Amino acid sequence: MSITLPNLLLDTPSATTEIASRIGACLIAGDTLLLHGDIGAGKSYFARALIQSLQDRPEDVPSPTFTLVQTYETQLGEVWHADLYRLSDPGEAEELGLTDAFSSAICLIEWPDRLASLAPKGALSLHFQYTDNNTQRDLSFMGGSDTLCTRISRALA
Ligand SMILES: Nc1ncnc2c1ncn2[C@@H]1O[C@H](COP(=O)(O)OP(=O)(O)O)[C@@H](O)[C@H]1O
Ligand SMILES: [Mg+2]
Repeated sequence: MSITLPNLLLDTPSATTEIASRIGACLIAGDTLLLHGDIGAGKSYFARALIQSLQDRPEDVPSPTFTLVQTYETQLGEVWHADLYRLSDPGEAEELGLTDAFSSAICLIEWPDRLASLAPKGALSLHFQYTDNNTQRDLSFMGGSDTLCTRISRALA
């Protein structure tokens, strides 16, 4: 069985916040979301909204552009937010502890192509794209394990 998630039109930043919190609520440790899209497409915005929706007291969620990885304690356990734009070699992801986090935490990964073959098999890809409208983005989904896609499909219904 393979589940296809529908494309979404994120009409405003608050629509992105709403979708991020719905998706966040159905995640469990061991889930990885691979966030694709050009600079400014909304990857960090989505990750920030998702993380904050899982915190009792929403913390500051800075873009991990320079630190590569930031970790957060949430109601669903540890969440790792990574921006791998500056990753020089996929092996560095292992040194950062990211490959272990794929099985023990919820992981949100920007610029996931930098992982090459180290990306976890059941990860779900989210593709953010600009539209003609400044405040609007398209979101489409690819891949993902059946269990993860089933949970997300229910969360979006
Ligand atoms: N519908 C939308 N969803 C998310 N972000 C949006 C949307 N419309 C406009 N934006 C803006 O786009 C920018 C996205 O930036 P950011 O998330 O840092 O991009 P990325 O991490 O993909 O480089 C933010 O300034 C945000 O306010
Ligand atoms: Mg970013």
